Amino acid sequence: MPSLSQWMVRASLLYLGAGFTLGALILFDKGVPYEPDVWRFLPLHIEMLILGWMVQLAMGIAYWILPRFGTQRRKIPFASLGFLTLNLGILLVGIGTWQQSWTDLALVGRIAELGAAAAFVGHAWPRVKAPGVR
Ligand code: HEM
Repeated sequence: MPSLSQWMVRASLLYLGAGFTLGALILFDKGVPYEPDVWRFLPLHIEMLILGWMVQLAMGIAYWILPRFGTQRRKIPFASLGFLTLNLGILLVGIGTWQQSWTDLALVGRIAELGAAAAFVGHAWPRVKAPGVR
């Protein structure tokens, strides 16, 4: 497994743990109310589990497993950029939605996430090809 995939898969597992923990805290408050502010973590819970866990896991495995050109992966900086901007975006959206007056930060985070998707598609698109085709 290439090192970028290791980074992505490890990051996605961390998001899985953190996202489930936030979900459990929110769920607990639903059954036994203890801290209403815990609901402010709901957008971060969703962000971590959909983008941080599921999307990032798919990106990490795709980077590893999509067909290569001989032994080479091309446009590697696009994939690395995708990893960095996705995680930056999740962080900014997380802070921006927690602190509800910082909606601009959440918007910047969303733009970073969009950039991450575009960069990763830029990397992965040419690798979607039939076996033996260069
Ligand atoms: C991959 C797994 C998960 C994903 C993608 C996910 C995603 C979501 C989404 C999209 C919502 C918003 C639903 C809505 O507004 O209608 C939500 C709400 C919630 N999630 Fe998760 N979730 C996951 C796992 C969990 C787990 C494991 C827990 C608890 C241990 C949990 C606890 C909650 C709670 C308490 C809510 C709020 C429900 C409410 O509004 O009454 N989630 N989750």
